[in-house]
Amino acid sequence: MHHRLLFVCLGNICRSPAAEGVFMHLVQERELEDHFLIDSAGTGGWHIGSPADKRMRSAAAQRGIKITSRARQLSITDLESFDLILTMDNDNLAFVESLAMENNHLGTTASIKPLLSFASEQSCLEVPDPYYGGDAGFEHVLDLLENACEGLLKKLSVDL
Ligand code: 4NP
Repeated sequence: MHHRLLFVCLGNICRSPAAEGVFMHLVQERELEDHFLIDSAGTGGWHIGSPADKRMRSAAAQRGIKITSRARQLSITDLESFDLILTMDNDNLAFVESLAMENNHLGTTASIKPLLSFASEQSCLEVPDPYYGGDAGFEHVLDLLENACEGLLKKLSVDL
């Protein structure tokens, strides 16, 4: 079984590229690369082509996680090319759900879920945007992502 996963945030330079890197790191540790196609995208297009935010890349590198993606904007075709779309906050979730609703007639197949719905603790389902804050915000985001990605991989591994 092959899982096609797309992580989505607003700018595709902080949270979703980090989620992509964290999930890929876990997949590589378990040598499950052949079973997953992993990507990320932003609902907005301001940062198209840019590497992930330097602060996020260096915080992730401290944990042995590489973030190599370049920002791109979510497109309608993503709803057909991926099985599972994992959103970071309620705005992203509403955006992707409405895009799917508008294009339902095209045969969209992706299931859309908040990434944190796979976390061990469910008190908050939003990954806060760290862009305008300090270094602690980036560490907090990575803590949330590592926990939720572990839960997600555990769940999907059942079907491999
Ligand atoms: P992200 O963070 O959605 O986690 O990539 C953001 C980065 C940049 C902006 C917004 C959110 N921005 O407005 O430029």
